[in-house]
Parts: sequence; structure tokens; C-alpha cells
Amino acid sequence: MPRHLLNPMDFSVEELDRLMDLAGDIRSNPDKYAHACDRKTLATCFYEPSTRTRLSFESAMYHLGGHVLGFSSADSSSAAKGESVSDTIRVISSYADICAIRHPKEGAAYVASLHSGIPVINAGDGGHQHPTQTLTDLLTIRTLKGRLDRIRVGLCGDLKFGRTVHSLINALSRYEGIEFVMISPPELRVPEYILENLDAKNISYVQVQSLDDAITDLDILYMTRVQRERFFNEDDYVRMKDFYILNKEKMSLAPADMLVMHPLPRVNEISVEVDEDPRAVYFQQAQFGMYIRMALILTLLEIKVD
Ligand code: NCD
Repeated sequence: MPRHLLNPMDFSVEELDRLMDLAGDIRSNPDKYAHACDRKTLATCFYEPSTRTRLSFESAMYHLGGHVLGFSSADSSSAAKGESVSDTIRVISSYADICAIRHPKEGAAYVASLHSGIPVINAGDGGHQHPTQTLTDLLTIRTLKGRLDRIRVGLCGDLKFGRTVHSLINALSRYEGIEFVMISPPELRVPEYILENLDAKNISYVQVQSLDDAITDLDILYMTRVQRERFFNEDDYVRMKDFYILNKEKMSLAPADMLVMHPLPRVNEISVEVDEDPRAVYFQQAQFGMYIRMALILTLLEIKVD
């Protein structure tokens, strides 16, 4: 049976450590891995828009010497003719060795994994999970902060529909001394099922509305975009979209060593003037994405490089 990545919890903390160590080694010694995936093919099946996730997967496979095929929208695949995800993946299993799938429906990657003969990577399923963004985020925090435990993480924006936030909370909840400060309007709070998990594990979190109050005492501020495509009506989106705008003035209230992260794409929630602040690491974060995806492809394909 192939091994899949559907949720960050599919990997133990030790496995995540090994994955991040491997990503670090790939980053320092890229030549060593340049032919690791010779004659292997990655399929990218994207039923929803993407820039970073799809291209970093493709770039990861090319940097490993492999090939890539796939589609970048539902319109250009047989989904437009009514084909199911399970039929598509059954066929793709005979064209490729590993598949990354993004789909607007929660659980789509899971359904694909049930019918797949090759490893399936969830590259985002609706407002549910986005485990490879979380691997990217963990590597960014571990590299730039030097640790994954004892951190106070502010999550700000659309915590209801933001799948990157859901996956990150799950993953970080396994480290010691994590505290979450969830900053959102009441309508966009973290879903109850995620809070129940935190309660069950006795993990510290608060839900607040004011970014100004929260920003003074954080190790990480993880900003998110309001997820327009998941709103049921446009008026609600328009009311919420500029609720938080991180600018220079707000950054002047933040600790000197606080990191600002964002999975990207950014819309209005971080003003461009913040980009030059050394604490703004979101573009660096996107670079880490390629290395961790290289490590993930090697791990799921069980390819060892000495
Ligand atoms: C995120 C996503 O798709 O959930 N983007 C990404 O993969 N980096 C965040 C977003 O779209 O807001």
C-alpha cells in the first residue's frame, strides 16, 4: 500500500523532524539530489487555482531530476465532463509515480487515496487541510526561530475557512509549551472541532479580536487572507475583507524578534510597506516550500540518497 499525506498528523513528530533534516540537507547539497528521481513522474491534479503550491511541487520534482504532468484547473481536465476524482486517480496511477491533488471539496484527497495505487499528497482540500503548507511553515519556524516548542503563535484573519491555519494548529499542538492567540472577527473564528482537539489536549489558546492588543506579545504572527471563494455571499466577504491590515504602525507595536508569516497569496491584509521589515519572512517562507516538497517526494517514494 502506498503511503499518503492527507493531514500533517499522518507523520509523527520524529518523522517530521527527519523530513525537515532532509529538506535542510537538500538545501545545502542540491547536487547530491539532482538525479534522485530520474525516470519518476509527479502528477499535479489541481481543480482549484494555485501559484506557489503547484509550481513549488513541479519545481521540486524537476530539481530531483524527475518529470511532471497534470492539469491546473478543473476546466481543463475530464472533471468538466463529469468524471469523478476516484476514476481520475485510478487512471493517473498508471501514468505517474506520485500525485499532488488540490480540490475545492473537503475530503477529496482522502477519497483519491482510497482508489490510488500511488502516494497521494493533499495539496489543499476545500477549507479543511493543507498539510504541505504546514510542512513549509514548520521548516520556516524551525530554521528561523531555532525551535518549534515554547512559542506563542498569533493566527490572524480568516481562521474559519483558512485551511493552512487548521493544519498548522494540528501540527503545532504536538510540541511542548505552544500557546495560540487566535485573532479574528467572531464570524471567522476557528471551527469548533479544532478547538475541541485543543481542549482535549489541554493546550493553551485565547480567541480575541484586536490585533493591536495581541501583537505586543507574540513570537510568530501568521496572517491569512479572507477566503473569498468559500463565502456563501459576497456582502459578507466585502464586510470582512479589510478587517485586519498589518502596516508599519502596527509593526511598531510588535516585539523585535517576532516573525511575520503568511502562506500567500496576500491581498490587502499586509501592506506592502511591511515587506522591507526584516521580521517579514513570507517570501522566504515560500522558498522553503520547494525544499520540504523535495524531501516529501523522496520520503513517500522511499528513495534514499547517500
Ligand atoms: C493557501 C491555500 O491555498 O490555502 N495558499 C497556498 O497554498 N500557499 C492560502 C490562501 O489561498 O489563502
